[in-house]
Amino acid sequence: MFPTHRPRRLRANPQLRRMVRETIVTTSDLIYPLFAVPGEAIAQEVRSMPGVYQLSIDKIVEEAKEVYDLGIPAIILFGIPADKDTDATGAWHECGMVQKAATAVKEAVPDLIVIVDTCLCEYTSHGHCGYLQVGDLSGRVLNDPTLELLKKTAVSQAKAGADIIAPSGMMDGFVQAIRQGLDEAGFQDLPILSYAAKYASAYYGPFRDAADSAPQFGDRRTYQMDPGNAREALKEIELDIAEGADMLMVKPALAYMDIIWRVKEATNLPVAAYNVSGEYSMVKAAALNGWIDEEKVVMETMTSFKRAGADLILTYHAKDIARWLGA
Ligand code: PBG
Ligand code: ZN
Repeated sequence: MFPTHRPRRLRANPQLRRMVRETIVTTSDLIYPLFAVPGEAIAQEVRSMPGVYQLSIDKIVEEAKEVYDLGIPAIILFGIPADKDTDATGAWHECGMVQKAATAVKEAVPDLIVIVDTCLCEYTSHGHCGYLQVGDLSGRVLNDPTLELLKKTAVSQAKAGADIIAPSGMMDGFVQAIRQGLDEAGFQDLPILSYAAKYASAYYGPFRDAADSAPQFGDRRTYQMDPGNAREALKEIELDIAEGADMLMVKPALAYMDIIWRVKEATNLPVAAYNVSGEYSMVKAAALNGWIDEEKVVMETMTSFKRAGADLILTYHAKDIARWLGA
């Protein structure tokens, strides 16, 4: 007649709910992305990402201090160079934006972990993530020659003081190539966070405004994954683990929580989820219109990433989350 089991008993008040909560988000889970541009005293808000700025290195350093004081353990750096070319010189040059930013941040805030994005799309004139055959307008990146550039990029980032190398270009063999390059240069102890399962996603749109990295022609579907595939993500992580990845990333996050779950089930390595630019912009736009409660929506989403299996979350909301959690 009456229910024997009443799950509502454990939902009666905040104290009980807190005691039986399975998943919590902490500031330690967060990684905050930053965009470095040439110049001085520059803080240029990204049109499609309210609250996110392109920053000159002096401003990056200020921001890094704030991030550290909020208790966030790590940043990930992206660079926007003054000039772009077909060899992606800005990616691997010792005076590249990411290299200079990494050195400056490590000097000012030595205990903040500096992750660097290792890819070429911000630095190539055509906006693709590697070398193209001259005259090829299809955007089919040449895999193996690109590996050499990625190796060179990672080593220069390591020399600049980066703590973690995060290759994001989805080239075959990129983890192995970078591991080999780092080891040869004496950086055996530098970890690799591989963007292992990265999908060809429309959710990267606002990032490409922020990083000025939209492909000039073609798209990234010949190297990034097809959104219809889940088993293929397991194949990708299997390869990256075999090649020496220390941590794995799934990207985007919101529409790919099943992938986060599957990857987590399949590995004992730490799993990171990238809450990408388009996910951020959608929440921001609705919040600015007063249509949703930003804090509640963001915290619910972060909790869900962790529930799905993410150990780490890269998010543009990181500073707000740290404040909401009472840093
Ligand atoms: C570069 C890179 C991209 C993102 C991170 N690294 C963009 C892309 O692949 O086009 C996306 C991040 C975001 O959307 O927030 N390969
Ligand atoms: Zn890229």
